[in-house]
Amino acid sequence: MADDDWKVLPHDAPAQLADNLWRVEGELEGMSLRRCMVVARLRSGALALHNAMALDDAGMRWLLGLGRPAVMIVPNGWHRIDAARYKARFPELRVVCPAGSRARVEQRVAVDDTYACGALAPGDDSVTLRHLAGVKDVEGVMTVRSHDGLTHVLNDAMFNLAHGKGLFMFIYGRLMGNAGGPKITSITRWLMIKERAAFRADLEALADVPGLRRVIVAHGAVIDEDAPGVLRRVAAAL
Ligand SMILES: [Fe+2]
Repeated sequence: MADDDWKVLPHDAPAQLADNLWRVEGELEGMSLRRCMVVARLRSGALALHNAMALDDAGMRWLLGLGRPAVMIVPNGWHRIDAARYKARFPELRVVCPAGSRARVEQRVAVDDTYACGALAPGDDSVTLRHLAGVKDVEGVMTVRSHDGLTHVLNDAMFNLAHGKGLFMFIYGRLMGNAGGPKITSITRWLMIKERAAFRADLEALADVPGLRRVIVAHGAVIDEDAPGVLRRVAAAL
């Protein structure tokens, strides 16, 4: 199978989180971890796809019913699994990724811009990107402005896994302390965070953004109760 063949892994039905914001959770091949795709609609009606996942026929009809996919955000160099597939299917997609992950993402798909772009569309603050501090620009945050408030979309910087069954979740979740609520996982601490104080301060800055309603992470449930408090507690535990 070529990298750009449309390979669909099992996924849930999409869920609408706000007027311009949707999330789909699905499986990863050979892993207990699941992943999620976030779709945000710009004021123009065009769509930004964060962590784009190949969806089944009904899922793609749903997606195209929301609008035209215009921007694909590849949130780090490991979350590039379906990037080439989307670019092949939608050649007009503008591809954006964190600057520090660009080389790895470009092994699969050409990159047009980095998170330094800020707003995805001029004069439209509904979907903005920026790098996170303390991680050498390998990841960032997408912030979506909706009628009910702001949503920060993180990637591997923070997980929110429930405890689960099986050997992987016993070792990775229980023994290594990576499950049981919002966490900065051990792998993120070891591999991603280069300046802990700067990273912690940036989590606090994200918590302080007025109108913060929820936080979405790539692996685990949406944080939609006291999102600012959760970010502050996770930062304090670093
Ligand atoms: Fe991940």
